[in-house]
Amino acid sequence: MVVSIQGRVMEGISGRVPAESLWQSLLDRGRRAVFDRPAVRVDPIDVDDVQGFILRGYRMPMVRHLLLTVGVPEAARALLGRLVGGDEADVPQITTAKDWHVGFEPGPFDDPAGTPRVKPDYCLNLGITWPGLIALDVADHVPDLSFGSFAAFVAGAAERAHLVGDTGAGSPGNWVGGFGTGADHVLVTLHALGPGAMETYTDRLAELFTEGGAYRILSRHDGQALMEMRDGVAVPTSKVHFGYTDGISQTTIRGGPENYSADRQQPCEPWLFVLREEAENYSVPTPLQLGLNGSFAAFKIVETDIVGFECFLQANKDTIDPEFLAAKICGRWRNGVPLALSPDTDSPSGGIPSGDLNDFDYVNADGSGDQKGLRCPVGAHIRRINPRGQPVAGQGHPGGSNNSHRLVRRGMPYGPAYDPSQPYDGIERGLLGYFINASIENQYEFVLSQWVNGSEFAGAVRLDPDARDPMIGTQASNDSVFNIPRSRGAADIKATGLTTFVTTKAAAYCFLPSVTAVKFIAGLPQAPR
Ligand code: HEM
Repeated sequence: MVVSIQGRVMEGISGRVPAESLWQSLLDRGRRAVFDRPAVRVDPIDVDDVQGFILRGYRMPMVRHLLLTVGVPEAARALLGRLVGGDEADVPQITTAKDWHVGFEPGPFDDPAGTPRVKPDYCLNLGITWPGLIALDVADHVPDLSFGSFAAFVAGAAERAHLVGDTGAGSPGNWVGGFGTGADHVLVTLHALGPGAMETYTDRLAELFTEGGAYRILSRHDGQALMEMRDGVAVPTSKVHFGYTDGISQTTIRGGPENYSADRQQPCEPWLFVLREEAENYSVPTPLQLGLNGSFAAFKIVETDIVGFECFLQANKDTIDPEFLAAKICGRWRNGVPLALSPDTDSPSGGIPSGDLNDFDYVNADGSGDQKGLRCPVGAHIRRINPRGQPVAGQGHPGGSNNSHRLVRRGMPYGPAYDPSQPYDGIERGLLGYFINASIENQYEFVLSQWVNGSEFAGAVRLDPDARDPMIGTQASNDSVFNIPRSRGAADIKATGLTTFVTTKAAAYCFLPSVTAVKFIAGLPQAPR
């Protein structure tokens, strides 16, 4: 039965079935998935088979994404097999979600009393686009290949760019590095502890890719944590361009290896991020050796218009303090303090322990809280992208769960920290990385089309029809207005001159195969069927 529903969903997204009833059915099914489903036995997550960054944040300061196009399919498949062959001396190995064992400096979320772990100096991961699976001759060799529930992945990011606001300057025709051309087949992601390791493994991989004409490198894209000087030493921060502190709220996955600080949200079902048979809104791709324990992700490079953003803050300073406006735009003050916990200052008396910076909700089960968005605007970035317990279209329960649309973010800034004394230094800055989910339609695309670039989602709270996410939305015009509601009947603050501050430079929809799946692809017969 699920499969037939899926069929209808695919039709919907290509316009034959009205979007509203399509999103309504997706929302209703998502809600039922969380509340009404009978308790099913959930097998533990096979962390040895799942790619690491699906379930773990590596906390490494550098990343390099290498976009490859397939040359000789047999050689290309064979090389993938070596990346999971277990022989580090041969080639760098794909990093799984398995725990690192001894001697590792405990991180912010680690139990200092726990077993210290060794952190490798690199992590390696792999994404394959649908054209990539075709170029690897997987479809040729696998008669029962089916990605029936994943039309977005099959269609690809370029085809569906208009659904997520990647239009105008951000449209696929302007994308860089070969993304969206159909030659964008395999994305290899290398995280490294330092520049030395980054160059060593890049050189090893680049040499490897060309062996036997397996692959050609189309482009490479680097990200790096923004550094700041502490006691004369440059140290990585979790700052992003626009000046905010990022990486505070993480997505807790039931049975996952990472435990994050309190966030008053139910843990997410593992099938929302790892392809598993108990899933409620998709059928695992077949054959199962290929589909199980995999995942999907939208890879994205977005350029940030920092000058435009700072000018917008300053242009409204007679109406609202620039730092307060920056906080209202994001939902957090730039130092990470959430408006939900501290609506009037970024340094509340007594402070907020770092472990509590995510311990809030917008609307509680008894309907109390910040229904109208007087503390954190309903239209602010983090509240749009994860409304938590706020009732939204299709999920009308105060304090209810919107987990069926959650995302795992694995992104990093690119470009050096912005220097306000050199606003026009001509250096491109932005964010690049993966938004990971099991269903690109129901998670990534839904969030960007309905919540980031929509205004109807907020249930009882009516937003201006043209309202979009003030930080990452594709604004309706170059003079949009960001409405900030105020209490005690005071008129809304209207911040004018809002423009689109982020532009997509590249995107790709990737399948993140499990170790078993990579071995399956590598094991396909050399000679065509
Ligand atoms: C240049 C673009 C972007 C910037 C500067 C940005 C910045 C931020 C910041 C500062 C936070 C709050 C920190 C935290 O709670 O961890 C945040 C949260 C978040 N952002 Fe973005 N973001 C950007 C693009 C996106 C995009 C494209 C998506 C997804 C499609 C996204 C998804 C999220 C999510 C899921 C959260 C966590 C919300 C929560 O759970 O409370 N962001 N972002």
